[in-house]
Amino acid sequence: MTVPARFRAFRIHDDDAGYRAGLEEIALDDLAPGELVIRTAYSSVNYKDALAGTGQGKILRRFPLVGGIDVAGHVVQSRDPAFREGDAVLVTGCGLSETRDGGYAEYARLEAKWAVPLPAGLDLRESMILGTAGFTAALALLRMTENRQTPALGPLAVTGATGGVGSLAVDIFDRAGYTVHAISGKPEQADYLRAIGAAEVLGREALDVRRALESARFGGGLDNVGGPMLTGLLAQTAPYGNVASAGLAASPTLETTVMPFIIRGVSLLGVASAGTARDIRDEVWRRLASDWKPRHLDRIAQHEATLDTLPDAFARLLAGGGLGRTLVRIGPEPGR
Ligand SMILES: NC(=O)c1ccc[n+]([C@@H]2O[C@H](COP(=O)([O-])OP(=O)(O)OC[C@H]3O[C@@H](n4cnc5c(N)ncnc54)[C@H](OP(=O)(O)O)[C@@H]3O)[C@@H](O)[C@H]2O)c1
Repeated sequence: MTVPARFRAFRIHDDDAGYRAGLEEIALDDLAPGELVIRTAYSSVNYKDALAGTGQGKILRRFPLVGGIDVAGHVVQSRDPAFREGDAVLVTGCGLSETRDGGYAEYARLEAKWAVPLPAGLDLRESMILGTAGFTAALALLRMTENRQTPALGPLAVTGATGGVGSLAVDIFDRAGYTVHAISGKPEQADYLRAIGAAEVLGREALDVRRALESARFGGGLDNVGGPMLTGLLAQTAPYGNVASAGLAASPTLETTVMPFIIRGVSLLGVASAGTARDIRDEVWRRLASDWKPRHLDRIAQHEATLDTLPDAFARLLAGGGLGRTLVRIGPEPGR
């Protein structure tokens, strides 16, 4: 299939004229090289996208680049025998909008080694409601279960619960058989959190602690915010529970003692979605399309943006007013 000579892309620059981002018409050869060209159907807005798109965080390592760390669409050109025209594929992370052009464009050129064939059980829209956020939540659960987390250890806490990663974690952990305690600074969203799988909704003060060990009220959890809330989660985790650290929405610092580790055997697990090895990446997407597929994706897809409205979506996310996930609709998805 031929790709139009020019197409629309949300591109980020940092040069003598300063940091700026916006819609442009570009050509295929403006994009980083790769074996696959796809017609983009959907992307999404993650915290990292909002930082990159506004210049509020150092995300890009070369300029100019098309933004968007997630992308899904249909292959229109392939130089890799593993993919054919018409195949539905997705990529999350893997250097998109960091060292390579990302998903905020009508066409994307991708490296075949990172393209995941859309797993049976997901459509393209669902795959981007999940995107990096869902991948991160499921990767956290995979790491925890590999380290012997079970529902019998107690409820899993999820911080930043109304956010993208948080909402999907609430749904995925519930689906996987865990009791979920959602921790949120938005008490007015308690009904939303219960609707997507939380058994209990707690305020952020639930993680205020004064001692390195407090009574163990959680079997473990996923932390999206860092700082004192992560300290509090570690202090309240049951013996041999796992705490996965994924985010820094509040702070990049962590002050704790060794007590949770040496007295309770608590494990602190890192979650780095962008650098996940291919075999683990495939396993996570397989689970997301089957036994860990969230039951409330439509409810979690609270916002929809287009290439034109991306700046509004970034502003909402950075102001902490985002709820759930923001899907970016870019091109037509045949069959919908
Ligand atoms: N490690 C990885 O691979 C990976 C992947 C994706 C994202 N992340 C990181 O994970 C975090 C969440 O990403 P996201 O896309 O879900 O962002 P998001 O949609 O903006 O959600 C962040 C949530 O954190 C809570 N929050 C915000 N500011 C806070 C503060 N000052 N103190 C306490 N809680 C606060 C809010 O939830 P409540 O109002 O409900 O408390 C907010 O909805 C970000 O730091 C992001 O960079 C990491």
